[in-house]
Amino acid sequence: MVSACVMAVGKGRDVGHTSVDPVGDVAARLVSEFYDAFPQRYARGMQEIPEVDLAPISVLIREASYSFDGLRVLDAGCGTGAQATSLARQNPLTTVVGFDCSAKSIAVARQSQLLAGLNNVAFSVSSCEAFSSEDPFDLVWCNGVLHHIGMPAKALGALHKCLTAKGVAAIWVLHRYGHRDIMLKRELVQRLSYSEAGDWKTQVRWLDELNLSIPADRYGHNQLGEDTESVAQTRKADAFLTPYLCPWTFADALAHAKQAGFSWLAIDQVTTEKGTRLLALTSEDDAPPWVTSLTEVFPSALVRRRLGELPIAERLACIELEMRPRGFLFLAGSEDSFAQCSPRIRANTCRLL
Ligand SMILES: C[S@@+](CC[C@H](N)C(=O)[O-])C[C@H]1O[C@@H](n2cnc3c(N)ncnc32)[C@H](O)[C@@H]1O
Repeated sequence: MVSACVMAVGKGRDVGHTSVDPVGDVAARLVSEFYDAFPQRYARGMQEIPEVDLAPISVLIREASYSFDGLRVLDAGCGTGAQATSLARQNPLTTVVGFDCSAKSIAVARQSQLLAGLNNVAFSVSSCEAFSSEDPFDLVWCNGVLHHIGMPAKALGALHKCLTAKGVAAIWVLHRYGHRDIMLKRELVQRLSYSEAGDWKTQVRWLDELNLSIPADRYGHNQLGEDTESVAQTRKADAFLTPYLCPWTFADALAHAKQAGFSWLAIDQVTTEKGTRLLALTSEDDAPPWVTSLTEVFPSALVRRRLGELPIAERLACIELEMRPRGFLFLAGSEDSFAQCSPRIRANTCRLL
């Protein structure tokens, strides 16, 4: 599994230090070096304050029927801070903290914060695994980060410790089944560029030679309106050159969250070629367009009846085999947070304890 996930480290490259999990450590260092070279896609010469689609977070807040006012929100692996900054600007009574292991990304985030004159958002350089905070958070948001981490349960455990008793973590990760096309292309690029491993600026040329690109709407959310050449280039590098990428299945999310100490987990949103939509594990013939219901995934009533007889983790395994998601958002929390979840989220929930 490791070889499929880790890009070649390269001949003569110094990776020699021992640890409990060398893959995790080496991957972490390479990942932060990579994102220093390609700060996440929102960096635009710092001329412009980013404005991003916060729909995935907003839906959660609406369904949990509480407002952002007074909340403390953590954006874990915030990149250049586009979401944290947007959240802070749109919700002046919310306190937002963002951190990322890439110092260059955090420098851009701080510049945006200064530009916007915001005093309800702060940024720091940290890894997920090492992050801690004396003031806990009501919401931990972590978008597109954990699949880059060799020891995700450790990172999730650190995020779990940052939550208030009623706090919820909302985590979006790539899914192994729907991301397979990119993983195969990554391997091709890796083989062609082995001798240049770690020299990402040189490796980028293989992406052009192979005519590889990633549509701005591949993951259905978080995209900015304007798609400049440099944004597209960063998106491409992010997809094909990141030094460590290991997409998850629903079962991985359950296993890592359990190990991290969460009490419950719900698969909340699923990204497919149709975009990112809420998931409802109930049979609904008239689900709104933003909800994928079990009836849509499995039109056969007989199949749905059989699924109803299965434990929820098995049901989820069947759903992901059929949907082959590109990514998914899951929610997780402690016992006290479960009560505030909507009936849809509760119906999607697996108990972990
Ligand atoms: C695909 S980007 C996503 C950035 C941001 N969350 C967003 O949605 O735009 C992945 C980010 O995860 C960060 N990252 C990767 N591994 C990390 C770790 N172990 N701890 C903290 N940040 C990490 C990278 O530096 C990068 O900024």
